[in-house]
Amino acid sequence: DHQSRIEELLGQMTVDEKLGQLQQLAWAWGTGPGGADTEQAEAAARKGLLGSVLNIVGAETSNALQRIAVEESRLGIPLVFGLDVIHGYHTTFPIPLAQAAAFDPAVTEKDAEVSAREARSNGTHWTFSPMMDVTREPRWGRIAESIGEDPYLTAGYAVAKVRGYQGADLSAPDRIAACAKHFVAYGGAEGGRDYNTVDVSEQRLRNLYLPPFRAAVDAGAVTVMAAFNTISGVPAHANPHTLTDILKEEWGFDGVVVSDWTGVQELIAHGNAANEAEAARRSLTAGVDMEMVSTTFVDHGRDLLASGALSQERLDDAVARVLRLKLRLGLFESPYVEESAALTAPTPEARAAAREVAGRCMVLLKNDNNVLPLDAQALRSLAVAGPFADSGDLLGTWTLPGAPAAVPVLAGLRAALPDTDIRHAVGVSSDGFDTGGIPEAVAAAEAADAVVLVVGEPPAISGEAAVRSELGLPGAQEELIDAVAAAGKPCVVVLVGGRPLTIGGWADKVSAIVMAWHPGIEAGPAVADVLTGAVVPGGKLPVTFPRTVGQLPLYYNHERTGRPSDPAAPDVKYVSKYLDLADGPEFAFGHGLSYTTFSLGDPVLSRERIGAEELGAGATVEVSVVIRNSGDREGDEVVQLYVQDPAASIAQPVRRLRGFRRIRLAAGEEREVRFTLGADDLGFWTNDPAGVFTVEPGEIHIHTGNSSQTRARRTLLIT
Ligand code: IFM
Repeated sequence: DHQSRIEELLGQMTVDEKLGQLQQLAWAWGTGPGGADTEQAEAAARKGLLGSVLNIVGAETSNALQRIAVEESRLGIPLVFGLDVIHGYHTTFPIPLAQAAAFDPAVTEKDAEVSAREARSNGTHWTFSPMMDVTREPRWGRIAESIGEDPYLTAGYAVAKVRGYQGADLSAPDRIAACAKHFVAYGGAEGGRDYNTVDVSEQRLRNLYLPPFRAAVDAGAVTVMAAFNTISGVPAHANPHTLTDILKEEWGFDGVVVSDWTGVQELIAHGNAANEAEAARRSLTAGVDMEMVSTTFVDHGRDLLASGALSQERLDDAVARVLRLKLRLGLFESPYVEESAALTAPTPEARAAAREVAGRCMVLLKNDNNVLPLDAQALRSLAVAGPFADSGDLLGTWTLPGAPAAVPVLAGLRAALPDTDIRHAVGVSSDGFDTGGIPEAVAAAEAADAVVLVVGEPPAISGEAAVRSELGLPGAQEELIDAVAAAGKPCVVVLVGGRPLTIGGWADKVSAIVMAWHPGIEAGPAVADVLTGAVVPGGKLPVTFPRTVGQLPLYYNHERTGRPSDPAAPDVKYVSKYLDLADGPEFAFGHGLSYTTFSLGDPVLSRERIGAEELGAGATVEVSVVIRNSGDREGDEVVQLYVQDPAASIAQPVRRLRGFRRIRLAAGEEREVRFTLGADDLGFWTNDPAGVFTVEPGEIHIHTGNSSQTRARRTLLIT
């Protein structure tokens, strides 16, 4: 069994070999400052002074390096190879934020399964995913990698993604280890600036940021990555409260905590360590087990141990965790991959899955006069314009170098509308600055029955270290929209991007807007599916779309204030609002339209009162709601359930999501959807650093509907 094998190995290892297991070096490229060094990695592997390598790709390359570790080092301990497989390996699925919009964790499980199969066959054992940083900051580029602003939705996706990567047996040839990241509260970076400070109360830490991690750990995630930010003054890489007290002790996590890229060394820049030895001590003793790229553990661990600053017990614990990961992955028995079995390109099945998922992720933001779906029979001519119309650059952030480009929207539309005369015009260049093509785009629109404009932001300004201070369309794209919309033809905007964008300047000028995000490899076919109605859009926003950057942060589950503003009384002073802006978002969390219509009944509770103690012992309340497709075509709706505690010992969110179900209904079909609420849903974490969850007596309001602005409500009494 694993434990006796670990003990046996620990008994054979020198201090240097132990420290070596805690080191991860980069191979072919850098995903942070500084670079990769293959010679350094090879030399360390040969001496048995290396535990892991990241950014190594390909069956042959990884086998060759593994052979050095297994056949040439003294103990022959295999290396574990890590890589950022965030939303696909060869087959790039939509970005995670897009997947969140599906309100269907099955889409992310599918992505993870396909990714795991492709990655493991090429020698990757471990992905640095899922990213589960709840965030309210669209300026932060990493929102693209997240599941958005809600902890419950994020937790649901975290579980599905861990399951999809890891399956039931990590040693299987189509499974990889997951990494829940970034621990923790990285999404709270002030001003949305990457790597920035986070000062967070215990209650917010536990109610907002921690739940997805808890869910991932409970789902069996075998690794966790520390975050770059501070948490209330203490860097996450040196934070014993989060890493040891909560993660390892309270939750019983027995896997590996890996640092982020040079995250340990950065304790010096944080001003939390005077030198590398101190950085190593703080980080190791706080609970980091493996150091990515910087080398403070291997350089200073021996001295720290000799001086007593690092205990033998803690060192052995860190090494045991790394060995356990390798044992779980079956690397001692099967260190190599079968080179002839490596998947070298997307299979047709994987592409089909990526297309289906991309269609499920799209959100119909508006659709005046039912201009969508396009009527393939009646549409004789279509103008397709915009910098992203004929672009393959729609994969999004974090893709594998060399991953096949996206199928452009233009190609997708041409294939879906073979009898329509499609005229393409760029309008403005992809950086948005060359406006010379606008007259051609206008002429194309004037000559056509309808126009599709594909605008937005490119992947290059989305993702890590891609923070924006403005959220409008880059360059002169608004100018293009104004000019083309003025042609007076039905005008559909397909919006691409990795974050909520401010669209108020032009949204009223166009007939329909589809939020397509960065849709991945099958972008074009998936967009065409939605525009032609082959797929009826059913996605919902997993983040609030603000009207201006000045409103940020703006999110649906904000705490109550003592002086809330009332939209019905805009002139009242001394309330919480902006003087120069009416209240509210452009589009709310949970919003999304369909080509059909739905009517939702009021929620019905299985009981109207329940004891707090009963809840604590596992009792639940059922909430049911009847939904009917009141339109004339089949479609999906996401039934959403929110709870609100109107009087509690600490201020509560005005509403928080505690249930969602995406269902497909035929025209006229009616169905009852049921949710189960227990203590987890009705209580909250207090500010006690010891971790106190409480269910307080009093009323709970239960809302159901199809967006966060829903009104249907019932009251449950907790006694
Ligand atoms: O996994 C990533 C992390 O999210 C950001 N810094 C680099 C790591 C490894 O590439």
